[in-house]
Amino acid sequence: MGGGKARIAVLVSGGGTNLQALIDAQSRGEIPHGEIVLVIANKADAYALTRAETAGIPGVVITKKACGGDQEAFEDAIIAQLEACEIDLVVLAGFMAILSKRFTDTYPKRILNVHPSLIPSFCGEGFYGLRVHEAALAKGVKVTGATVHYVNEIPDGGEIILQKAVNIRPDDTPESLQKRVMRLAEWKILPRAVELVSAELVNR
Ligand code: GAR
Repeated sequence: MGGGKARIAVLVSGGGTNLQALIDAQSRGEIPHGEIVLVIANKADAYALTRAETAGIPGVVITKKACGGDQEAFEDAIIAQLEACEIDLVVLAGFMAILSKRFTDTYPKRILNVHPSLIPSFCGEGFYGLRVHEAALAKGVKVTGATVHYVNEIPDGGEIILQKAVNIRPDDTPESLQKRVMRLAEWKILPRAVELVSAELVNR
């Protein structure tokens, strides 16, 4: 790329607290090598879109339903939007849709995901959101955490970039654990990983 800032798109589905952590880190100057220029939601009512609007970042809704329920058409619509905005780095921040190999091959080592466990525990298809924390509590593990990794065709299977551990308390519920993992791990390592990869891309 050579100089400048990596142009970042954040893909979201829901509340968008990880998007907010990125926006806040950016306004504190902690992502000097990147700039969030686009938010794409696959749910029209995602609160993340309000967060984007408040921060002055363009938000776009692309649903699979609007693409006739067709995965390929859905992914093509996302790729077209990413290309139109000349995106260098794609960040999945609570994006609850699985992307095909065709999609992930379009952006090799340019897609990051934040997952709410210490991969390879409690990850892969079916492990998302609160379910991850329910599974960790059901197993009785004493330590969990979060992982930021590159995205390839294997769900939660790409190279790990950063991880952070969080202790489980005896009185934790899935909800209390989810909140603590977000606050102590996800919101910290996601902005750091985004800056690390952005710096690598602009210095290439
Ligand atoms: C976060 O905990 C994120 O790690 C998780 O969903 C939540 C989204 O919250 N993602 C996954 O489980 C993906 N497999 P947010 O919308 O407030 O950022």
